[in-house]
Parts: sequence; structure tokens; C-alpha cells
Amino acid sequence: MRSLKNKRILLGVSGGIAAYKSADLVRRLAEHGCDVRVVMTRGAQEFMQPLTFQALSGNPVHTDLLDPKAEAAMGHIELARWADAIVIAPATADVIAKLAAGTADDLLSTLCLATSLPIAVVPAMNQQMWSSPATQDNIERLRHRDVAVWGPGSGSQACGEVGAGRMLEPLEIAERVNDLFNTGSLAGLRVMITAGPTQENIDPVRYLTNHSSGKMGFAVAQAAVEAGAVVTLVTGPVSLETPEGVERVNTTTAQQMLEACEEYADGCDIFIATAAVADYRLAEVNEHKIKKDHEELVITLTKNEDILATIASREEAPFCVGFAAETQNIETYAMGKLQRKKLSMICANRVHGDSNTGFNADSNELHVYWENGKKHYPNMPKTRLARELIQLIAEHQQPDI
Ligand SMILES: Cc1cc2nc3c(=O)[nH]c(=O)nc-3n(C[C@H](O)[C@H](O)[C@H](O)COP(=O)(O)O)c2cc1C
Repeated sequence: MRSLKNKRILLGVSGGIAAYKSADLVRRLAEHGCDVRVVMTRGAQEFMQPLTFQALSGNPVHTDLLDPKAEAAMGHIELARWADAIVIAPATADVIAKLAAGTADDLLSTLCLATSLPIAVVPAMNQQMWSSPATQDNIERLRHRDVAVWGPGSGSQACGEVGAGRMLEPLEIAERVNDLFNTGSLAGLRVMITAGPTQENIDPVRYLTNHSSGKMGFAVAQAAVEAGAVVTLVTGPVSLETPEGVERVNTTTAQQMLEACEEYADGCDIFIATAAVADYRLAEVNEHKIKKDHEELVITLTKNEDILATIASREEAPFCVGFAAETQNIETYAMGKLQRKKLSMICANRVHGDSNTGFNADSNELHVYWENGKKHYPNMPKTRLARELIQLIAEHQQPDI
């Protein structure tokens, strides 16, 4: 099973007898590397104390929708933005009915309505409640909306009856969480991604670079591999961990990055260029350290070849996605790049020195443009943004599926 490292799981616990097993589930998820936040319904709090989940998850437990303090810290919208997926275990007949009806009268149901995150429900109830036409109708409606339904298992129940309705064991639930991310939307495709900054040497001890952290590109690589692609990540100098299952190619200069991209471009279906490649390099790199014995120093720069435009102009060009960091006139500049470089799609974001979006931040806001359309993604964690983007790319690269 692929690691769930750094995945943010919002665990909804509702008022069933199996709520005690959710305490173990928090531990299992944490063992798999997840960061877990628990939302309890009022019913759940009759069965378990929030303190148990707080201690096990290491995070405050969320119980109220209309709580001014919670709203200021992490209210329902913030929680929905924080998470990568929602798992409801146990999911009572009541919670399932609420989700199916789309009501929003408590924190958990409101969260589920206020998000496009993947959701899994893990039903746990008396066998008669499970087989009742009302519950079965509700489950069908949820399945139809792509909500994952895990279980229930069959066997003897806490109420003394025997039948279907037992909650799956915590270990099995934790292992299934991977399914929420492994969409398969890029199955069988080869994807090449560039990430990070480049470094252009001035002399043996100095170089020109930029603020790119590589976080967006690494998150896109992770999302692409989860979507089933074979992924090559050509990166500039960053110290980020390589996502599991991704082939990493380390480069330093723009020229090296271009050479690596040309080498790996054959047979590539999708090329996503997130790297902040230096537009210029030194016309001549100094062989020895430059001494500070002049009042002024002039260095001459020469233009680097544009990696994205080079790959996009190949005879059998992959589906090319560019990134553009702009400080103004986002749409005009982005559309200009899209047409000039013959791209399939361009993702633009506004960069400011002092904001929490763009370079080096953990979250970002994106405006994505293609020939006849555009989509705006509000500020969200780069990991989640990457998954949304991979989904969008998959839909446009293979419009027939
Ligand atoms: C002792 C006891 C055990 C219960 N166990 C379950 C259960 O396993 N599954 C279920 O769907 N409802 C169960 N219920 C009913 C729910 O607690 C009830 O429908 C409640 O409204 C659920 O609230 P919630 O879904 O908002 O947490 C149980 C009730 C009691 C009193």
C-alpha cells in the first residue's frame, strides 16, 4: 500500500455503538502518516468523549457548527479547505440520510455539503436499519454521487442480532483510504513534470536563482502518480522528499533541465512545467571567484532556451501545461503565453512578496486557462490543488472518457 504520509483526513464520527472503534481508527490513520482531525456529531458525544479523540489525534475535536470560537479558529469552511478527504466512521443511518438529503444542520453535514472533497462513509447499524428501503435508497443516492461506501460487514451485532451492518475494522478502513486518492484518471499515461528553481552560476561560489520552492511541482507529481500515471519529475535544486513511485531527475541549471526534459519527452503524454526556470544565464561563467575590487560590477546575461516552448513545438508534442507567476494582468499575460507557446493549458497565479500564495507557500490560488475555457481555484493547500488540477488535465487530455 502507498504511504498516506501528510494526507489530511477529516474523520466524522457519528452516534453509533461502533464509535469506540473510531478511536483505534485515529491511531491506524496516524500510523499510516495521516494528519487527522475529528468532527463529532451530537450523537457521537453520547458514546465517546471528545477528549479521547483529541488525545489520539493531537488536534482539537470539532463538535459545533454555530460556535463563534471555532468559527474564528477553524470553522466549517476552513476545515473543508484543510482536509484532503472526509471519512465518516461509523456512519449512522441518520448521517447517511442527512448526506443523501443534503441537509446542513450540524457541523458534519454542513462540511460534507460545503466541499468537493472525496467522501467515504463506513456504515454501522442494526441489520434491520441497514436493509430498510429508506437506508438502501439513501446509500444508492450517495453512491450515485461518487461517495465511497465501505462495508458494512456481516456477523453478530452489538444488539444481539446477526446480519449485515457491522462497521469494517479500523485497519481495513485505514487501508482503504488510499482508494480515495487513487483515481486512475491517468492510468497508463506517461507524465513529465518540472519543479523548483534553477541555478545559474556566476562564478565558482555564486549563482542566480529565484524563490521557487518546488512544492507545487512535487504535489503535482504525487497527484499524477496517485492518478495512475508513470511520472518523471525533473527538478531543480530543492530538498523536498521524492513522492513514492515517482522517478526523480536532479538538475541544476536551465540548460541541464532542458536536456533532461528532451531526454524524457519521447513517449510522454502530458508535460506539466511548474519549474521557475531562469530566463537568462551568464554569457560567460567566471572561472575564478570575482573579487570585490570594483565599485560597480556588470555581468552580461544571455537568454536561456524556453523549455516549455521547446517541448510544445515537438512534432508529437505531449499535452503541455504551463505555469505562469504574474504580478499583474494575470489573464492577459496567461492567454498570451498559452497562444505564443502553443500550450494546451496554462495555470496562472498572482505572486506578491508578502502573501501566502505562490512561491514557497504551502497553499496557492490558481486561474487555469485553455483555448475555450477557464477555471478558478480559490486558495487551498498545494496538495489538494494538485489533485484538482490533475483531474482537470485528465478530463481535457482525454475528452472522450
Ligand atoms: C445504544 C444506542 C446505540 C445505537 N447504535 C446505532 C448504530 O450503531 N447505528 C445507527 O445508525 N444508529 C444507532 N443508534 C441511533 C442513533 O444514535 C440515532 O439515530 C442518533 O440520532 C444518531 O445521531 P447522529 O447520526 O447525528 O450521530 C443507536 C442508539 C442508541 C441509543
